[in-house]
Amino acid sequence: MKDQLEKIKSEALKQIEGSDALEKLNDIRVAYLGKKGELTKVLKSMKDVAPEDRPKVGQMVNEAREAIEAKLEETKARLARKAREEQMKAEVIDVTLPAVKNHVGHSHPNTIALEEVERIFVGMGYEVVEGPEVEYDEYNFTKLNIPANHPAKDEQDTFYINKDIVLRTQTSPVQARIMEQGKLPIRMIAPGRVFRSDEVDATHSPSFHQVEGLVIDKHITFADLKGTLAQFAKEMFGEDTKVKFRPHHFPFTEPSAEVDVSCFKCGGTGCRFCKGSGWIEILGCGMVHPHVLEMCGIDPEEYTGFAFGVGLERIALLKYEIDDMRLLYENDIRFLKQF
Ligand code: DAH
Repeated sequence: MKDQLEKIKSEALKQIEGSDALEKLNDIRVAYLGKKGELTKVLKSMKDVAPEDRPKVGQMVNEAREAIEAKLEETKARLARKAREEQMKAEVIDVTLPAVKNHVGHSHPNTIALEEVERIFVGMGYEVVEGPEVEYDEYNFTKLNIPANHPAKDEQDTFYINKDIVLRTQTSPVQARIMEQGKLPIRMIAPGRVFRSDEVDATHSPSFHQVEGLVIDKHITFADLKGTLAQFAKEMFGEDTKVKFRPHHFPFTEPSAEVDVSCFKCGGTGCRFCKGSGWIEILGCGMVHPHVLEMCGIDPEEYTGFAFGVGLERIALLKYEIDDMRLLYENDIRFLKQF
């Protein structure tokens, strides 16, 4: 038995010593220590050994196993080291080759402008909320005082999904959605994408962005609206910016106005940028119509409020002096990088 074990051991060690690849080592491990391996066979034949000799034989088997395992480990480490050295020699790096550069993206001018608008209004205590882009005709029109057959419905060339569902033409439906929730007072802005069936040109796109604003509370007056938008214009376009409110009509506000800011390029004297007028139109606004409040479950005797809607692209184009809206949608990194 002893001789047999010695033979197995020396045979195994010799094979390990002579092996030149990691895979071969594993084969050797299986051949000697595996379930059907040589050494395991000896262990299985223990039942034929006289009981008094068993501890001795057991010890010998263990010694042989330990010796083989130790040799396997040692050889494995040696072979791994050798393989790594060879790899290092083979994989020579040519440091003169041009490097593969990482191209980092860039915030879109719309995103930069929106972050600025949000910063300004959040600073005044507004919450930023969102509404769905695919909207019920009812929210997009009816609840905003634009009933079926109202001529204002024609002005916004609408994409209809079916007769009740549209791609929203404005962010104003978010006003109705928020008012309906019944949590008062309200002070929110709602940025988002809107859709109109317009042809693409330098100032139009079938999909663009607006930022809606809505404030509902007790004792809100037109003075609050004027003060808020004047402050917004100053923070957005510079401290010297003046605002002008021109009477206008929107179905869901009464009275309504369009707001111009003094041209921040020429300061109001007239230039190419403001087409000589000294003023640039930026948004629509007004006091929320009492009927709209009623339709959304708010008592117009107790609460009043104002609303406004800004075109985000318009702000971005003005602020960064971009003269063609199409540039905003092409996403050419050479263009985007400039802002
Ligand atoms: N939704 C209007 C538009 O797309 C803009 C607007 C005007 C929004 C007046 C308002 C508002 O909230 O009070 O033309």
